[in-house]
Amino acid sequence: MKLKGRGSVILFPLPFQGHINPMLQLANILHERGFSISIIHTRFNSPNPLNYPLFRFYPIPDGLSENHVISSDPNRIVAFVKFLNSNCQTPLRDCLAKLISTSLEDEDPIACLVTDALWYSTQAVADDLKLPRIVLRTSNVSSFIVLSSMSLLFEKGYLPLQEMEVPELPQFRFKDIAMLEASDRESFLQFIEILVQETKASSGIILNSCEDLEQEFLSKLSLLFPIPVFLIGPFHKYFPASSSSLLPQDRTCISWLDKQQPNSVIYVSFGSVAAIEEADFLEVAWGLANSMQAFLWVVRPGLVQGSEWLELLPNGFLEMVGERAHIVKWAPQQEVLAHPSTGAFWTHCGWNSTLESLCEGVPMICQPSFGDQKIDSRFVSHVWRVGVHLEFKIERGEIERAIRRLMVEPEGQEMRERIKLIKDKINLCLKLGGSSYKSLDNLVIYILSM
Ligand code: UDX
Repeated sequence: MKLKGRGSVILFPLPFQGHINPMLQLANILHERGFSISIIHTRFNSPNPLNYPLFRFYPIPDGLSENHVISSDPNRIVAFVKFLNSNCQTPLRDCLAKLISTSLEDEDPIACLVTDALWYSTQAVADDLKLPRIVLRTSNVSSFIVLSSMSLLFEKGYLPLQEMEVPELPQFRFKDIAMLEASDRESFLQFIEILVQETKASSGIILNSCEDLEQEFLSKLSLLFPIPVFLIGPFHKYFPASSSSLLPQDRTCISWLDKQQPNSVIYVSFGSVAAIEEADFLEVAWGLANSMQAFLWVVRPGLVQGSEWLELLPNGFLEMVGERAHIVKWAPQQEVLAHPSTGAFWTHCGWNSTLESLCEGVPMICQPSFGDQKIDSRFVSHVWRVGVHLEFKIERGEIERAIRRLMVEPEGQEMRERIKLIKDKINLCLKLGGSSYKSLDNLVIYILSM
């Protein structure tokens, strides 16, 4: 039930699919707890206001052309986020100042601003306007700690890329935590430095994870960030992400899944940013075909740079795989993972995808590309042991073997049993008295006290 008049929260998502989803889910969660919601957003990758009739939306200029395409090159992503931070700082300030002046007559005073952690330039704006800023970090705790420790690891000469285990995190080798092989290391470290510094200067951090999943990292997190921390996830268990999808979700995959046997389908998707080379695309296609398993494959336009969609597939490929395959541009992923026919998920291990898979008890084939994906992948394959890790070199024989391990061999069944325990644990977090449930209560009290 919506409780009236608790104040208003302004949220500012970063315009990437993997960041918009959790921010809009958080907006729904806070709205359900009685806060009125305003969303300030860039024009680029704007959420659709029609899907949120109870929220107010305020677009701000971002300096991007309408047909801007996000690069999958990590160095260019960092440059892009920096560009957004400098271009949007003044428009955000103007927009907030206007909202603050009108809120004086409003029944719901503004309680706080919630921005993505990567919007580091918003802390200065919030400080100027005397508005508390809470940071949403859309990854998990462990990868946030690694990110925050990057400078130190470089300083000690551990990075990049070493087989050696990390002394304080024996689950990881240094090469698992090299978030990106930055060609411009100075610029990358400077970016992280400011992100960490401006998060420390904020009034608190919200993470889309739950304490029971990451218990061993919590004390380290509070040492690094001595501010209130709220692990209230997984967000998508409160509200699905379909309404914040930037691409239309092709629902034909659900009727196709309805016709398949339980646990018989491998679902393949590499998220909204990761791209692959043409040669790798063909290896994926042949690996899937040769595995002899049914597969649902998301081929996002732009997955292979410069290609329209499926034109790179060899002649006769679609006829050869026939009814065993279903290929779409974008899927209703949470429904796909929750479907009884889905038996495994070949994923790039973006945190949203990883969490969605854990919540539905679907074991994974991990093919991380950059950033937190490598850490998530290591967790899935070596800590939780609910998936197999594929090295970044994509090769049809390796793919076929990984699929067989998950879908056919007893190992896959063991992973299925282990992941079911994780799924149950996560569900308990959200129930009355569970860690996320309590943390959300604490967050609401905290916002009300601001
Ligand atoms: C990015 C980063 O790559 C990731 O590492 C970081 O943790 C968040 O930002 P992205 O690559 O898009 O995100 O991956 P992910 O975090 O998995 O988010 C993708 C979202 O799109 C998920 O919520 C997923 O359900 C949704 N999705 C994906 C669809 O709705 N349909 C699809 O076909 C594929």
